[in-house]
Amino acid sequence: MALYSEKVMDHFTNPRNVGKIEDADGVGEVGNARCGDIMKIYLKVDDEGVITDVKFNTFGCASAIASSSMATCLIKGKPVSEALELTNKAVVEALEGLPAVKVHCSVLAEEAIKAAVKDYNDRHGVKYDPEIFKEKHIHED
Ligand code: FES
Repeated sequence: MALYSEKVMDHFTNPRNVGKIEDADGVGEVGNARCGDIMKIYLKVDDEGVITDVKFNTFGCASAIASSSMATCLIKGKPVSEALELTNKAVVEALEGLPAVKVHCSVLAEEAIKAAVKDYNDRHGVKYDPEIFKEKHIHED
């Protein structure tokens, strides 16, 4: 069996939403202590709280690129509140799996999105429970 699914290869070789949004409404940057990789997510949000555009940059591995590409596809056009619900598990499922040693790469995507939502909330005076940003939603099963 191939190590990577076709979905992973597709999002790695043809990543969606790569780049930077200059006038982003929220920016999140996170790093992975295990591998030293970094991911940055930019959100553009309309007055209704819907994510109209999202871009990412990563100094990460193939799985990090595929995960962030898929994660941005999953949250584009969705309300910010839904983006917050996105788990790395959902990203892995959408990618039709990642090797177990690469699951942590998908966590980077989840955490970068959460960091960007937190930044959006902070900039726009949106009230939230800070606890939700402390929790790490790591699903490696
Ligand atoms: Fe660093 Fe994948 S090995 S994010």
